[in-house]
Amino acid sequence: MNATGEPATPAPTATGEPATSAPAATAGAVSGEEPGAAGALVLFGITGDLARKMLLPALYRLAADGRLDLPIIGVARTDLDLDGLREHAREACGGPRDAAFDRLAGNLRLVAGDYRDPGTFTRLADEVRGKGFLVHYLAVPPALFAPVAEGLAGAGLNHDARLVVEKPFGHDLGSARALNDQLLQHFDEDHLRRVDHFLGKEPVEDLLVFRFANMLLEPIWNRSYIRSIQITMAEDFDVRDRGAFYDANGTVRDVVQNHLLQLLALLAMDPPPSTDARATLDEKWRVLRAVQTIDPADVVRGQYTGYLGTDGVRPGSTTETYVALRAYIDNWRWAGVPWCIRSGKALPTTDLEVVAELRRPPVTMFSDAHAPGSPNLIRFRLQPDAGVTFDLLAKEPGKQHTRPVPVSVDFTKELGPMDAAYERILADAVSGDPRRFARFDLVEESWRIVQPLLDLPEPPLPYDPGTWGPAPAEDIAPGGWHKISTTFD
Ligand code: BG6
Repeated sequence: MNATGEPATPAPTATGEPATSAPAATAGAVSGEEPGAAGALVLFGITGDLARKMLLPALYRLAADGRLDLPIIGVARTDLDLDGLREHAREACGGPRDAAFDRLAGNLRLVAGDYRDPGTFTRLADEVRGKGFLVHYLAVPPALFAPVAEGLAGAGLNHDARLVVEKPFGHDLGSARALNDQLLQHFDEDHLRRVDHFLGKEPVEDLLVFRFANMLLEPIWNRSYIRSIQITMAEDFDVRDRGAFYDANGTVRDVVQNHLLQLLALLAMDPPPSTDARATLDEKWRVLRAVQTIDPADVVRGQYTGYLGTDGVRPGSTTETYVALRAYIDNWRWAGVPWCIRSGKALPTTDLEVVAELRRPPVTMFSDAHAPGSPNLIRFRLQPDAGVTFDLLAKEPGKQHTRPVPVSVDFTKELGPMDAAYERILADAVSGDPRRFARFDLVEESWRIVQPLLDLPEPPLPYDPGTWGPAPAEDIAPGGWHKISTTFD
């Protein structure tokens, strides 16, 4: 047994080797009880795309809500001076001229320099001296994660500090392990956070509330009542100006290994034995460990027509822009239930929805003229709006047959607006709460699950932009994919 009480038997990988080389160490490393919050936030890549689109606006909203008021030291290879950085930040936040922005701007500092130059880190050390516990947030390309960690350690900035790295974490199982080993030389697991911004999305986390705060769902949330689960993450835009990034990754690496398997873990996990972060992370790990390594026979890959003409895409590229797959979980709750996942670019809508199909009643007592044999469905809408819909069968007035009727609640209408994912990620980065980050043992299992699908030599099937992917993808879900609900209106 390890520290979590789990048998230390690692799950097999595609190659038959254990996925979790040290489950006790990885599962046991996170305490969730960092001593106090941070004294300063060091933001590497503050002039980059992610900071402009997501991080700076989130910092502004946190400042406006009075939830974040601490020195923010931007590090970047830039010609900007501090005033220039403040103007850059103002633009990124939509041009506000108010007290909240003044507070944020007043907190900003800048260390300009190359991430591979030790001088940058010496200047950073001067800037943060006496500021207490540091959070280093790496919004930089993954190739720079290890050099920055090393630079920080060289200047002694890995003590009393936490390192937060953006995605992607590795390119496959082996490279994720190698990267982790590099980072662990300077920061232990307690002081490492791997961002998966889906975990910062409130509707995603609310799945746990829906499941474990209500008695309604849990008794039927298993193989006896659920026939299949379908997870759809559709995007109606193409790879835009991200051709080079996307072509080196593809849909499986871009969203399945991380976001969608994290989602699966939240949907499939058992209730944790306590409310602390570690208990939840352990349960997620336990269920991911039980997910079978995916068989390429259970996968359909697609590529939208026109993709090959995108800037940065290699001629003749076989990178997928669409994937549909079936996964199975070998445990008592889920054995034999297909978990069907599909995601792609250039699809008809932009939506994130989970549809659970229930088994049919054992005996048919009422005919179902409009939709023969319609099963009950439970839909979790996660994006763009959040809510739950039960598709139940009701009798048509004056008739003897049934038809499905939706019973819905729109969480946004009922409960009000939710925080953006990056507000929660940044707030947690600063406070140290690990539950909305990807612990390494979870990352490792996710790579193990998708490993056979990476870099498949066969070309993906073509599909037209604006369609639901290649036709054979329909057969991945038993009985076909349910039409997603698109909106509550
Ligand atoms: C990113 C992927 O991680 O997630 C993108 O790289 C994808 O390809 C994005 O579009 C989706 O995130 P969100 O929050 O916009 O749904």
